[in-house]
Amino acid sequence: FRLPDARNEPNPTYVEGSPERTKLLEVVKRMRSELPLKSELIIDGKAQAYSQAWEQPLPFEHKTTFTSYPLASKEQVSGAIDSALAAKKSWEQTPFVDRAAIFLKAAELVAGKYRHELIAATMLGQGKNMWQGEIDAAAELADFFRLNCNWAAEVMERQPTRGSDGMWSRLDYRPLEGFVYAISPFNFTAIGGNLIAGPAIMGNVVLWKPSPSNIYASTIVYKILLEAGLPEGVIQFVPGDAELINDVVFNHHDFAGLNFVGSSDVFRSLYARVGEGIGKKTYREFPRLVGETSGKNFTLIHPTGDIESAAYHTIRGTFEYQGQKCSATSRLYVPESRSKEFIDKLTSHIKKITIGNPVQDVSAFMGPVIHSRSFEKIKEVIDESNNDPSLKLIAGGKYDGSKGYYVEPTVYLADSPDHKLFNYEIFGPVLAIHVYPDAEWNSILKKVDQAGGGFALTGAVFANSRAAIREAEDALRYSAGNFYINCKTTAALIGQQSFGGARASGTNDKAGSSNPILRFTSPRLIKEEF
Ligand code: ALA
Repeated sequence: FRLPDARNEPNPTYVEGSPERTKLLEVVKRMRSELPLKSELIIDGKAQAYSQAWEQPLPFEHKTTFTSYPLASKEQVSGAIDSALAAKKSWEQTPFVDRAAIFLKAAELVAGKYRHELIAATMLGQGKNMWQGEIDAAAELADFFRLNCNWAAEVMERQPTRGSDGMWSRLDYRPLEGFVYAISPFNFTAIGGNLIAGPAIMGNVVLWKPSPSNIYASTIVYKILLEAGLPEGVIQFVPGDAELINDVVFNHHDFAGLNFVGSSDVFRSLYARVGEGIGKKTYREFPRLVGETSGKNFTLIHPTGDIESAAYHTIRGTFEYQGQKCSATSRLYVPESRSKEFIDKLTSHIKKITIGNPVQDVSAFMGPVIHSRSFEKIKEVIDESNNDPSLKLIAGGKYDGSKGYYVEPTVYLADSPDHKLFNYEIFGPVLAIHVYPDAEWNSILKKVDQAGGGFALTGAVFANSRAAIREAEDALRYSAGNFYINCKTTAALIGQQSFGGARASGTNDKAGSSNPILRFTSPRLIKEEF
């Protein structure tokens, strides 16, 4: 059967004086007055006691504790896996419509009853402004819950297309025989929701380790699923020390799949751990490994490109959420003939960028970066770049960590397209620009492909010439999993621009489509003769 097509959840504008804005800001204020907030470790539907926790400060006021991150013990992690496996039989036998109904109800709770709670949690915990909170923790999360139901139905409809007399062949879409381990990142609350929803809708059980820097919003997401009727044990909410949890998971015979979003380095090390386990015949089956990881995303402007539009999209693609989207633009190539016009427009937009505490200056375009580790790393890049004679600072270049982790939107011009700023991920509001001679369009295409530190997540080209668009699409075929023409490198909409990159950026299983659902199913072909 088919589910009705899900529409993307619309975004309210939150304009000054609107009821949505008033309501949201009341929730933000209430949350702010209740600090520190309580996050949970939840196994079998019940909040568990824990003896150790880390603290997460407010990113915009790091002397204040926002919440604590419970650390599950080894016994709790093992126990959570055991009871998830015990819950699996009845979960996978639950009719699909009943499983889907839970996620459809959860989507309604996200879009309605808990919308402001989720956005507020993301503003306080992740330092997002209200619009960035809205598109993530409200709209994208609801989309992921709704659309995973559609994708699951779509996958199960895929059946053998040829029959013959006297027999019937069909595919039985089984979940994996074991449990799935989901590891979610700090930067999108919605991503955690997607990493657990896809596998669970297909009848899998999931051990979910949320990021230490997205524990409060993730706790709300998890409680919404319980309220929507998710049976106890199907998804276990287990924050904890990564090494400790990994040790338990990767030594477990029933480990069957990893659904990961985070850095390439971490994914690489997890992949290697699984390889070791396979070598030792630790697992019943070859675990499925799905990872969406780092990027060094490019924008390439052709001499025919619309400069006003390129500048506008570069501002949004580079600096929204402080450059902490895996899809954020971080290297840009502009032709000499248009470089002055582009840089003038870009820097004049940057002058108008407001930076502020997302809770007090709710309309500020930029807020703080997530934590001290990130701030220190970006600071180091900026200090080194400010003193590098081969770079010219054209905007920003300052930071202030005294109260919160604030970094100015920063842009460097680099003489050489081989400069290291074009080759590693910073995960902050720093852009490197190279001006290329117009006549060298073909060699800059090669350079864009070869640079980028081996990553290939997103990229954009701005051109009005159809021939140039064709040349870029061909020359950059493997340089990005998401390739944007005349628009920014960010803001993939669920169900419209499925998302993911290859090379060092992950397994390119395209979140936001039905592909990941297939990775977490193990179809059985059944042939019956009559
Ligand atoms: N899916 C997010 C974007 O496209 C990361 O910006």
